[in-house]
Amino acid sequence: MSDQISEVGQILAQQLATAEDSAAVQEIRTEWVGRRGRITLALKELGKLDPETRRTQGQILNAAREQAMRLINQKLEQLGRVEEDIQLERERLDMTIRGQAPRVGLLHPLTRVRRLLEDVFLRMGFSLAYGPEIETTWYNFEALNIPEDHPARDMQDSFFVDVPHMVLRTHTSPVQIRGMEAAQGKLPVKIIAPGRVYRRDDDATHTPMFHQIEGLVVDRGITLGDLKGTLLAMTTALLGDSIETRFRPSYFPFTEPSVEMDVTCAACGGKGCRTCKGTGWVEILGSGLVHPSVLKNGGYDPQKVSGFAFGLGIERLAMRIFGLDDMRPLYQNDVEFLTGFERYTGRPIL
Ligand code: DAH
Repeated sequence: MSDQISEVGQILAQQLATAEDSAAVQEIRTEWVGRRGRITLALKELGKLDPETRRTQGQILNAAREQAMRLINQKLEQLGRVEEDIQLERERLDMTIRGQAPRVGLLHPLTRVRRLLEDVFLRMGFSLAYGPEIETTWYNFEALNIPEDHPARDMQDSFFVDVPHMVLRTHTSPVQIRGMEAAQGKLPVKIIAPGRVYRRDDDATHTPMFHQIEGLVVDRGITLGDLKGTLLAMTTALLGDSIETRFRPSYFPFTEPSVEMDVTCAACGGKGCRTCKGTGWVEILGSGLVHPSVLKNGGYDPQKVSGFAFGLGIERLAMRIFGLDDMRPLYQNDVEFLTGFERYTGRPIL
């Protein structure tokens, strides 16, 4: 009897030894002790035997069945542990693996140049002033002494809107008048006005919308010397001490006298090239002493006070700083182009 039991045990043990997972063990279980398993069927046959044989055979089969169950359960338990280990291993988190750094956003180069300019002037005691982008022709032209027949007032050059006497401002100079009005006769007026301006221009060095910063100082006894000193402080902060500057007489309706400021050409270092048309200089801004009529239009008495004003294009200056010869990529939102400015982060705020 015990021979038969141990024989079943041996076969089972062999089968179980090669079973690799619990599914294989379940198959073995079905084969032996399932509803139609070998031992189960044999037990069902017992009824047909005579009482004597049935008793001994019954004992053998029950013992074999018990042994089979024990071996199978043992194996299942063992496999369960192994499978759990495998599962745990698979789900293991390696906290030492380096993460993927997200791409960090950068300020647009034009924003950086604007902020740098704002910073320079705020440190010299200027405050920020703003005006509307859809402006009246009074603020944009008349108040600034720009006569009716001036080319800027031509449809060719300005964007007019459907409302009479309204225009997309062509420069930030109208904020001079608005700034003086807001100061209500108090002194000094010392403002810078950054913002968007619009002109009917579109080529490599002009876009229909661009940015300017306007500056205005009104006080008693303001001279051209004050203007020069202020602008030199700006170019030094922006372009370094080694840069050379020069002032040229010019004409603007809202200043008298008017001057333009040039800096040495970045492309050739002043030797003369295509960028500077062989002169070694590039113009960066227009400026002058505020015209008496403009002071009057802002509510100030030109007999008692004087002032200087200047206006510069932020795109132009950005091109000068970053060495660009085309303005358009600044507006094309090409991330590769824009991230190329990362290397300029060594500058004060650039
Ligand atoms: N508004 C002028 C322009 O857009 C620039 C300018 C010139 C501004 C001289 C000024 C100034 O304040 O004094 O071309």
